[in-house]
Amino acid sequence: MTTRLLGNSGLKVSAVGLGCMGFTQSYPPYPDKKETIRIIRKAVELGYTFFDTAEVYSMYKNEELVGEALEPYRDQVVLATKFGYDLEHVQMDSNNRPVNLSSRPETIRKAIEGSLKRLRTDHIDLYYQHRVDPQVPIEDVAGMLGILIKEGKVLHWGLSEASAATIRRAHQVCCVTAVQSEYSMWYRKPEEELLPVLEELGIGFVPFSPLGKGVLTGAFNKDTQFDHSDFRSSIPRFNPQNLLQNLTLVESICELAEQKETTPARIAIAWLLAQKPWIVPIPGTKKIARLIENAGAVDITFTSDELTDISNHLDHIRIVGERYPEEQEMLTEK
Ligand SMILES: NC(=O)c1ccc[n+]([C@@H]2O[C@H](COP(=O)([O-])OP(=O)(O)OC[C@H]3O[C@@H](n4cnc5c(N)ncnc54)[C@H](OP(=O)(O)O)[C@@H]3O)[C@@H](O)[C@H]2O)c1
Repeated sequence: MTTRLLGNSGLKVSAVGLGCMGFTQSYPPYPDKKETIRIIRKAVELGYTFFDTAEVYSMYKNEELVGEALEPYRDQVVLATKFGYDLEHVQMDSNNRPVNLSSRPETIRKAIEGSLKRLRTDHIDLYYQHRVDPQVPIEDVAGMLGILIKEGKVLHWGLSEASAATIRRAHQVCCVTAVQSEYSMWYRKPEEELLPVLEELGIGFVPFSPLGKGVLTGAFNKDTQFDHSDFRSSIPRFNPQNLLQNLTLVESICELAEQKETTPARIAIAWLLAQKPWIVPIPGTKKIARLIENAGAVDITFTSDELTDISNHLDHIRIVGERYPEEQEMLTEK
């Protein structure tokens, strides 16, 4: 697998990373522990060196699995995890997802100690604030991250779903290496304000849900029904009526894949890679065949004419429905 640098930081990662959330939450069914460890280790063998988790995923369980899987390879991989909730006093929304943000310095201190233990390491390579806490000035958060960096417990830090203005303020106090927010062929809002600011400040970008939570791969059709335990069953974009309309985009991606003799998943990932050399998508999968397929996106290239055509085409496709249920959307910064 080829590598990329996240912004000006010097942090080198595989051009496609592995999002590990789905091993334990959001998209059932989940593999057992042995199988999860086997798949994550296979990813290392395939050249993935960038792994994404968070303390909040399945309330610590995801970090524990990732930590165990990667312990023998710790020196070869870049571990990214996230803080930002008060999980000791956790409050859930109607979809059983934590909503009580906390980025108070004392919460961050507890979070890092827990993550280091679960990830079986003495440092986190990239530590993101999962959501901006409106109760804590971002300067205080950046200051705390500066302390953790001085202590050697964190090598780089970043933010997730933060506004361009917050990123600027944070970067002034303690240099931000990467921002992780949603970006894909069906959610292009970061193009408006976020990407120009990241380019200006030399900050890398890690698009999450690069496959549109699976839809862009062509895996779903108008009859697809999501089980109640599947997070997509609560997402407006996936309700049957909206999904039907949103499949127009997927048809276009499938056509493009046919023209370029590749797969829709590879098109979706390669399109993100083609936007900027400092973009590193982190598709999530629990299947080895898909790990291989997704990594292969690095070999798909587009001419600038093709990119312009795709962009014009995407501009004319209307995607309907919000990308998150309301209680979760409210936690993202506009
Ligand atoms: N910062 C944040 O707030 C935030 C939010 C969401 C996610 N994330 C991170 O971003 C990562 C990726 O996002 P995501 O998991 O939400 O969405 P995603 O990567 O867009 O899509 C994951 C879904 O696509 C399926 N899939 C993957 N590769 C495929 C392929 N080649 N063909 C067909 N289906 C395929 C997966 O199924 P299988 O697993 O069955 O293959 C899974 O259902 C997460 O794992 C997490 O680490 C961060």
